[in-house]
Amino acid sequence: MASFKDKVVYQIYPKSFQDSNGDGLGDLRGVIQRLDYLKDLGVDYLWLTPFFPSPQKDNGYDVSNYCEVDSRFGTMADFDELVKSADEKGLKIMLDMVLCHTSDQHEWFQKAINGDENYQRYYIFRDGRGDNEPPTNWQCAFGGSAWQWESHLKNWYLHLHDVSQPDLDWTNPKVREELANVVRFWKDRGVAGFRFDVINLISKPEVFEDDTEGLGRKLFADGPHVHEYLRELVKNSGIDGMITVGEMASTDLKNCLLYTRPEDHELSMVFSFHHLKVDYKDGDKWSLMNADIHELKKLFEEWQVGMSKSGGWNAVFWCNHDQPRAVSRFGDDGIESAKMLATTIHLMRGTPYVYQGEELGMTNAKFTSIEQYRDVESLNYYKILLEQGKSESDALKIIGERSRDNSRTPMQWSAEKFAGFSTAEPWISSPKNFETINVENELRDKNSVLNFYKMLIKFRKDNPIVQDGDIEFIERDNDDVVAYRRTLDSKELIVICNFRNSEVKLQDRSLSEYLAAGYKKILGNYESIDTNLRPYESIVFSLN
Ligand code: GLC
Repeated sequence: MASFKDKVVYQIYPKSFQDSNGDGLGDLRGVIQRLDYLKDLGVDYLWLTPFFPSPQKDNGYDVSNYCEVDSRFGTMADFDELVKSADEKGLKIMLDMVLCHTSDQHEWFQKAINGDENYQRYYIFRDGRGDNEPPTNWQCAFGGSAWQWESHLKNWYLHLHDVSQPDLDWTNPKVREELANVVRFWKDRGVAGFRFDVINLISKPEVFEDDTEGLGRKLFADGPHVHEYLRELVKNSGIDGMITVGEMASTDLKNCLLYTRPEDHELSMVFSFHHLKVDYKDGDKWSLMNADIHELKKLFEEWQVGMSKSGGWNAVFWCNHDQPRAVSRFGDDGIESAKMLATTIHLMRGTPYVYQGEELGMTNAKFTSIEQYRDVESLNYYKILLEQGKSESDALKIIGERSRDNSRTPMQWSAEKFAGFSTAEPWISSPKNFETINVENELRDKNSVLNFYKMLIKFRKDNPIVQDGDIEFIERDNDDVVAYRRTLDSKELIVICNFRNSEVKLQDRSLSEYLAAGYKKILGNYESIDTNLRPYESIVFSLN
């Protein structure tokens, strides 16, 4: 199986990347216009989130036709041109396959609720428990029951996400065949790789029963047939060896090894999310606390070392279209913290993902009113928080930190009106700081976050130690820093990142001791070396 150790993936959220036709919505021709920028950044693959026909209840993750382009985003001819133009620049396209559920507007679901029994077997319909009670107590990801009453059929259907996203029944071989054909369809159009949405939720438990401890997640994540279904999908769609990444909700290390070990022919890598829950109080996304750096370090070590021991492979990332901006979450919205965060993951073992705007240090949205939000999850939870007795201002504060819209604001291209994203009022507004944090400014400034990302991406390509080196964590008892050593043959890299907005000391070995032992500083976000680490300082030493 091919390896993707020297590659970097860039995630594009087309709706917010570049609008080419002045309707306030980004589109495929907008992406074509910006290919030179992406080429110059040095990335290899462009993962586009869904642009298929969709009622947009969940911004395109509610697909109503898998094999078309939504006219809001362009045409199939635009898509073909995108693949071709990208290819000419050495860039490859990855698509997002939402195969766990469809939209309720998909032809299959419409046929099902109109009485076609064949299509009813595509979804998960169950009888309830007596008086208006759903089959189990499982909760959906966006708040409320995971079951919806279907009045035509007089039973319930399962939706692990929005009510408009009914789950597909993967136990039905016909469903698996249809979905493999979808993947093959895009492969045949020149797509080079795939991201599979919540793919570890496709195999539901054999018995549907209440979750006595949680919301149900543990019961339906990494289900009994998930590995078998994935192997079959990969084989039947003909994508073995292509770059593939699975989005794994509430997963564990053991399963992620199985998903990614080359000999199993499942996926090339996985996204796991444990490290992005270290600021959830008691595991609750809607309860705020400062990030627990001790926990973050433990998780990085567990996943980095654990995956490497048995030949698994991680996708390494801080940001995506579902996460608040890392620089607002683990940093202080400033340049040093943006560079420090980038250093932390780009020199790890795994394939780095850059989410649009992360390379500029784009921050959270800073919205001040609920009217500015668009995301179904944010709007649902705002109501839930008020129902729980929170004041409007407390609820807004929580949504402000946790909303997925934080990452969905328009890409900041310039200081012009609408950040150079569109000539019309965009579908979602921008934080004011687009006037300074934008591509045009950062291309001009040699110390910008953008130029730092370019340098890190190139560094990976030029240095086999970053691609192949072993990893071991150091400063393990120091809760201010994340630090690790990479080794390959006789070479060594030491990566040290200060997660505090204050000066901190190293415990195992001081900076001057590294220098005295012959280590050379080869990268960092401050020019000189001081006695201690400065706020959000990152420093990389090498020893040959
Ligand atoms: C994934 C997507 C997210 C979507 C959900 C349901 O988590 O990243 O945006 O809402 O799946 O498809």
